[in-house]
Amino acid sequence: MASQVVLEVDRLAKTFRKPFSGKKVEAVRGISLQVTRGQIFGFLGPNGAGKTTTIKMLTGLIAPTSGRATILGKDVPSPEAMGSVGFLPENPYVYPYLTPREFVSLCGRLNGMGGPKLKKAVEAVIERVGIAYAIDRPVRNLSKGMLQRTGLAAALVHDPELLILDEPMSGLDPVGRKEVRDLIVEEASANKTVFFSSHILSDVEMLCDAVCILRKGEVVVSGTISELVDKGVRRSEITVSAPSDELADELEKLAERTQRVGRTLVVEVQGDDAIKTVLERALAAGARIEAVTPKRETLEDIFVRKAL
Ligand SMILES: Nc1ncnc2c1ncn2[C@@H]1O[C@H](COP(=O)(O)OP(=O)(O)OP(=O)(O)O)[C@@H](O)[C@H]1O
Ligand SMILES: [Mg+2]
Repeated sequence: MASQVVLEVDRLAKTFRKPFSGKKVEAVRGISLQVTRGQIFGFLGPNGAGKTTTIKMLTGLIAPTSGRATILGKDVPSPEAMGSVGFLPENPYVYPYLTPREFVSLCGRLNGMGGPKLKKAVEAVIERVGIAYAIDRPVRNLSKGMLQRTGLAAALVHDPELLILDEPMSGLDPVGRKEVRDLIVEEASANKTVFFSSHILSDVEMLCDAVCILRKGEVVVSGTISELVDKGVRRSEITVSAPSDELADELEKLAERTQRVGRTLVVEVQGDDAIKTVLERALAAGARIEAVTPKRETLEDIFVRKAL
């Protein structure tokens, strides 16, 4: 059975006009993507790439200049589409004079919840994001991380099908980041769909089934993590201990890159034939091989290669 498309983005574009000068800024230039049910989708790109602008279009905060987005087949920003979404903005604004309990209840009520069911859901979700101890403290007294968690609780309270999170790990310490990662995984295990932007590539690589990298408003890389990383070039590092100067010179010529670490030489090569040649030469010269380590291309390598 084909998996159900939860979020479909079709040639979405946004051009801003700068006030006064009237100069055009093409923030998003016709991007298309699909996110299926249960997927964790990472939305990446350097500062200014257009992530937040896209997310604002997906959540109906701004209208696209052209193109369209649908959520569970319903057009954004129709109430049918938006009712399925939980949204964490880049800098969540939480009314400073409310407590997390009051703020999250308000968000639940705005999503049509009420009564004892709402009360229970609010307490459960605040417990889940780890701020139960601060549930009745005014938000103005909370730290940045606690505010971020309050925002997350507000996004989750109505148990949405699709979570759209703009930089959900920002402002959190390593423990907080892990908790948010766990929460995202829990949502996906419950067959919910998560679309989030991030700069933290290792988090994305660990979590996401699929990613899209934006650069200057355009998609430069997209696909599942396994497709992208498998497509990457296969490199290996060969560590040779105490090579003679002649051998070191010879290996440097064969390698993509070499690096001296103390008395050892680390030779980076591409492809299996190159490994064989380096090993043969090194062994023939009487050197000792300490390690042959496959070097998988990481998302960070792909990001640096394509997006910067
Ligand atoms: N309201 C606006 N008016 C004019 N230009 C805008 C507006 N909002 C965003 N931009 C421009 O659009 C481009 C994309 O910005 P956006 O905030 O979407 O990037 P981003 O990928 O979220 O970056 P970051 O990683 O810093 O959050 C930038 O050049 C930005 O200056
Ligand atoms: Mg942004």
